[in-house]
Amino acid sequence: MTTVIHRAALLHAPTPKACVGFVDGALAVQGGRITAVDHAPRVVAAHRDAKIIMHAGLLVPGFVDAHLHYPQLAIAGAHGESLLDWLNRYTLPAEEAFADTIYAQAQAERFLDLLRRAGTTSALIFGVSFEAAMNALFSALQRRQIAAVSGLVWMDREGPDALLNSADECAEISARLLTEFCSVGALRYAVLPRFAPSCSAPMLQRAAEFCTSHPDALLQTHLSESKEELKWVAELFPKATDYLDVYDQAGLLTHNASFAHGVHLSASERQRLAKAGAALVHCPSANLFLGSGLFDYAAARSAGISVGLGTDIGAGTSLCLLDTLRAFYGVQMIQGTRLTIAELLYAATMGGAEAIGLADQVGSFAAGKRADFVELAPAADGLFAARWEQTDSLEERFFATAMLGGEAAIRKVWIAGQYSV
Ligand code: GUN
Ligand code: ZN
Repeated sequence: MTTVIHRAALLHAPTPKACVGFVDGALAVQGGRITAVDHAPRVVAAHRDAKIIMHAGLLVPGFVDAHLHYPQLAIAGAHGESLLDWLNRYTLPAEEAFADTIYAQAQAERFLDLLRRAGTTSALIFGVSFEAAMNALFSALQRRQIAAVSGLVWMDREGPDALLNSADECAEISARLLTEFCSVGALRYAVLPRFAPSCSAPMLQRAAEFCTSHPDALLQTHLSESKEELKWVAELFPKATDYLDVYDQAGLLTHNASFAHGVHLSASERQRLAKAGAALVHCPSANLFLGSGLFDYAAARSAGISVGLGTDIGAGTSLCLLDTLRAFYGVQMIQGTRLTIAELLYAATMGGAEAIGLADQVGSFAAGKRADFVELAPAADGLFAARWEQTDSLEERFFATAMLGGEAAIRKVWIAGQYSV
């Protein structure tokens, strides 16, 4: 099998502590996997027969979006509501449209086209309530050889009838999808109870039983996103000590779990998340857009919780994690936390991979991992190009790309060693 060498400036953040960069670096790729990462002269010398591709831009690992919704492309940017009214007015009706399988198939292809254009090569994708629509998404992921996590959304109350399934139906559909798409290959299954208000206590317990009987399955749900939601959860689950306790009582608080948002957590909830080894997914553009609140990253990290980053489309305002990093940076600055460039790059890549169970496959440049990477460079003259030309280090170059370049800076995207437009 031929080896292809990608020669370029390389930057990655295997941990949040430090970036690792190569000004003249190279990735050797064979069969869709990285076989070497090093300074270019060494990689070239070790692979005399390899084909060499030169990249003028900066190569970073493909972005890992740890939380976004497949059926919500069409409602991103819908005006004027906060979480609960936004769900009722825009979101749940948009998801009902996925009962139409032809529409769902078209949306699945479009969703994955747009994700790639945004530089996202892996994601935990919240699905929808319809099995045929999930078949469409999983088939499209499989065909494109994307390493991703997805699953049926579980809800049995507080939503339009068309979106509700019983716990047994959810378990049966999930078992079929998991067996068909996630037994071998790059896809993993996630059990996705929407959030506590739309799941009865028996449904949450059934979801936990499913995870126990399918130990490779991951779990993700929404947690503590808005104050209004917290109040509702307290009314619906009067015996729970707090929001996290609802999930804990059901048996869902495990090391396979990740929770989107976590904006309004208590110190005790943070400690219990850390103790369980569960992750949080921070969705800064969504939290700003819906006015949900400011996520306390410093508190989460000092409690020992790993944190991934999500666009949370359709609540988020961009499909691109570069744009999301700009929101992340600003939301922390306003709370007095100065994120390092390593923390930023890590959050958009390896941190997400860890949060969604793909750390052995994606998120950094390492021999054995998938060759999923993105080339960054200014697309046209402007403020970003002016800054890019005068940055002193690869780290500064990446930071400028996130703050000034955004999605327009994604020049090319490679998935499993393949470039496609
Ligand atoms: N909470 C329950 N469902 C959703 C959803 O679809 N988006 C967001 N942002 N929060 C939720
Ligand atoms: Zn969400």
